[in-house]
Amino acid sequence: MWVFAHRGASGHAPENTLKAIALAIEMQCDGIEIDIHEIDGELIVIHDTWLQKTTNGQGHIRSLSFAQIRALDAGQGEVIPTLREVLALVNGQCKVNIEVKSWATERRVLTEIDYAIAHLGFHNEQLILSSFNHHILRAAKKQRPQTLIGALTASVPINYCAFAQELDAYSVHCDIDFIPLEMVEDAHARGLKVFVYTANEISDIEDMLLLGIDAVFTNYPTRAMSKTAHQ
Ligand code: G3P
Ligand code: MG
Repeated sequence: MWVFAHRGASGHAPENTLKAIALAIEMQCDGIEIDIHEIDGELIVIHDTWLQKTTNGQGHIRSLSFAQIRALDAGQGEVIPTLREVLALVNGQCKVNIEVKSWATERRVLTEIDYAIAHLGFHNEQLILSSFNHHILRAAKKQRPQTLIGALTASVPINYCAFAQELDAYSVHCDIDFIPLEMVEDAHARGLKVFVYTANEISDIEDMLLLGIDAVFTNYPTRAMSKTAHQ
């Protein structure tokens, strides 16, 4: 079971910062998950749309310019990084799951993926593009068919993972609170990997191992790795 550092090693450093990313690399995670938004044509790495949650700023991220956002403190003196900065830091040392939040356009993200493969030491299979917005995923797959797509869901659909197969996804990314065995079996029967967010407790990790999950997103990678083959 792969261990992905959720928002970087966010249990140990401010989430979605270069510090949290560097820590995840140091921990030798299989992958790192980050969240991105597009502001003024730039892709920034942050989860929330409201700045006060994780920075010393106030208001909605769309109410500030890219330059204003870059002047904020995202915790422990860290700036809000760009996608390019994160990919440059990781430099192909592990997988990266780029989760596209509401209004990052797929075209812009795909350009960064191509750049990372050409210049930042990645190969295509190390980069996964995920989103709760399946329209973005479908558009991305159409524009760049070799893109690995992770279809996010927080539900257990009637047809289980049919939606992900329809998207020609690589993986289905499920909420830990809604992951029955039937969902896992259905995904695997359709040739999809199953990733689960967010598994932070040891008992969660044990449950995921029993379910046959392929990857977990966790804020505490070393805790998860102590229960997997990494020890
Ligand atoms: O990508 C997995 C997980 O991060 C999805 O939920 O809200 O933590 O971005 P969220
Ligand atoms: Mg996320």
